[in-house]
Amino acid sequence: MQRGQIAIALPKGRLFPEAIKLFEAAGIHGLEGLTESRRLLCEDSTGAYRFLILRPADIPTYVEYGATDMGVVGKDILLEQERDVYEPLDLKFGACRLVVAQPKNLQSRGRPVGVSAVRVATKYPQIAERYFTEQGVQVEIIRLSGSVELAPSLGLCERIVDLVDTGRTLRENELEEVEEIAIATARLIVNRAALKTKYQQVRGLIDRLMTVVRGGGHDATPPR
Ligand code: PRP
Repeated sequence: MQRGQIAIALPKGRLFPEAIKLFEAAGIHGLEGLTESRRLLCEDSTGAYRFLILRPADIPTYVEYGATDMGVVGKDILLEQERDVYEPLDLKFGACRLVVAQPKNLQSRGRPVGVSAVRVATKYPQIAERYFTEQGVQVEIIRLSGSVELAPSLGLCERIVDLVDTGRTLRENELEEVEEIAIATARLIVNRAALKTKYQQVRGLIDRLMTVVRGGGHDATPPR
């Protein structure tokens, strides 16, 4: 690894192509073809930056522990994990909404009547617990890893908390949105120690990314 090299964690999946475009727009070269390849590690053409392709939910851990200096990750994951990382920049792309949803055929839109604790299935147990507790609603959180939209029809829960992008998964599984909890866009996160020990490189890159995001140089997906 080149001395002073900055390691950057990029998320596999839906944020990945936009994240690559962002760094290219910030003047980093050598990332061409990464979206089509299965490579999990790539250096830019100057060797100043090393990119690691990781599972989105693991990125705050890598950054908090300094295994990578920086990362790109969805705000949904940051809200769920509450890691000790510096979050200097809303990258504005990949906007999704965290919502509460329930089966369409349920009549009441408010709190189900006569139910002491609402059962809520989700990939976001901390967010869901916090949200319902703030509303004064007693909940039983059921943690799932995916395909959460199936859970109400199988009787596992009354409601779900999940991410909505196009809304298609909710519609096609006969669910309707009840409440919006948060809007989640991609964020830049930085290891707190790296901000001090590699100040110039890290600050320089944050500033370049900020210019791209603020100047609209990056072809970001508008929020839906
Ligand atoms: C996410 C999310 C919803 C779906 C929303 O799941 O949890 O299920 O995408 O997208 P839509 O509103 O455009 O339909 P993901 O694709 O990550 O799969 P998973 O359920 O297996 O986690």
